[in-house]
Amino acid sequence: MGAGYNLHYRCRDLGVAIREDMGQRILVVDDERDLLRAFRRMLEHEGYDVDTATSGEEALTQLDKGGVDLVVMDVCMPGMSGIDTLAQMRERNILTPVIVISGAGSIDQAVTAIKSGAFDFVQKPPKRERLLLTVRNALRFTSLEDAHQQLQQDVVGDSRVIGGSPAMERLKGLIAKVAPSDGRVLIMGENGTGKELVAASIHAQSPRAHGPFVKLNCGAVPKDLVESELFGHEKGAFTGAVNARKGRFEIADGGTLLLDEIGDMPMPMQVKLLRVLQEGQFERVGGSRSISVDVRVLAATNRDLAAMVEEGSFREDLYYRLNVLTLRVPPLRDRRQDIGQLVEHFTSPGTRGAGLRLGEDAIAALMQYDYRGNVRELQNIVERLAILHGGSVVGSEEVREMLSMGEGKRKSCRGTLYEHGTTLKELLRDLERQIITEAILAHGNSKGAAAQALGTERSHFYKKCRQYSIGGQDN
Ligand SMILES: Nc1ncnc2c1ncn2[C@@H]1O[C@H](COP(=O)(O)OP(=O)(O)OP(=O)(O)O)[C@@H](O)[C@H]1O
Ligand SMILES: [Mg+2]
Repeated sequence: MGAGYNLHYRCRDLGVAIREDMGQRILVVDDERDLLRAFRRMLEHEGYDVDTATSGEEALTQLDKGGVDLVVMDVCMPGMSGIDTLAQMRERNILTPVIVISGAGSIDQAVTAIKSGAFDFVQKPPKRERLLLTVRNALRFTSLEDAHQQLQQDVVGDSRVIGGSPAMERLKGLIAKVAPSDGRVLIMGENGTGKELVAASIHAQSPRAHGPFVKLNCGAVPKDLVESELFGHEKGAFTGAVNARKGRFEIADGGTLLLDEIGDMPMPMQVKLLRVLQEGQFERVGGSRSISVDVRVLAATNRDLAAMVEEGSFREDLYYRLNVLTLRVPPLRDRRQDIGQLVEHFTSPGTRGAGLRLGEDAIAALMQYDYRGNVRELQNIVERLAILHGGSVVGSEEVREMLSMGEGKRKSCRGTLYEHGTTLKELLRDLERQIITEAILAHGNSKGAAAQALGTERSHFYKKCRQYSIGGQDN
């Protein structure tokens, strides 16, 4: 995000200063109209201006118009879930803070929302004091200083690569070696191994550390928007381009740009990217002015790019341009000795796993597992254990129980699949929802990895997740 985040707050901050006396604007999003009314009453009573929306889609339309200081949104909504709406906001560079509302049954989704960048969550039904405190905190957070500090922490504070195994020591040595140059680095590794973290660590140890660290997930952006995401667009360049907007290359000026999931970059875009890497210049979509920027490009992928080059789905010339240096992040099952240190890291004070105490047998049980979702899956398991068993010492049994859920072993509540009075369509829908949820869980919460494992087209899979209000991370 880097400068985008920064810039946004700078503009917003002006807005906040001007509007201070007139009350700040809060958008409340919930499909239940009664709740919307309750929120409106509580917030208006405190002098806030309140807008409402009854779906994620409607919320995005309102947010696109600007002027909203805070979003309070239900995680569970039919159609587009709160988590998807949040992801869409971030994709559109709308960095308005979001507080999610969760019911008793959606605590897991609230955790996912926080991991995807929500500020905090409040439980249903809303308690006045708790809600107002959270709202005040979130609005205070939007002040420039706080946002700036947070930005630094997001990028620099958390880029420590944990792990003392020989493989990780070697990797850390390589990171330190490649960081000072401007050389392009291709980071390869399975899902959840820590590729993005490695990129952040390269940036943090480079002379560009004071500049922005910007990321584009090439797999998560719709094909026809990749170009505008990378290079920006001029006003009126296409339907919906209401204002001119900078792309990631411009936002990353003076810093580092990570092209994540580069293997998913559509072919026509590969040509355009190659040109920028060769000439260091580009034009915004719909513009004719050549723009040059000073950006170090890193790329990451979980796919075998060399094989893609062989079969013709990735350009060879681009592959060589990006692949000046290659770093391979090993899967967690090949460095099980890191598990202890990682668990310690994920349960340290201030983290979401804080408070979890694991017995020696629990660590031993964790070390036997294969982690198809790698470090992300381990982190998720630790955080889930902390939610379920925080406060008591957890043994191997609780760990095994959690791991067997992650394994995706289907535990159907019904003995048989047929249920009297339920249509085939409904039964199949239930089954599909369950399979998708388990696949995402088995892949460390990564929707992309789950889609790949199930052999489903990503966009189709994401649509299904939206349809069933299933959370997870968009990569
Ligand atoms: N060595 C490590 N030390 C500390 N945290 C780690 C380490 N490796 C991974 N993590 C954490 O695990 C999570 C997943 O890491 P990251 O997003 O970097 O993986 P990734 O390889 O980019 O995954 P994906 O392929 O799904 O995009 C992050 O929360 C990251 O901070
Ligand atoms: Mg990644």
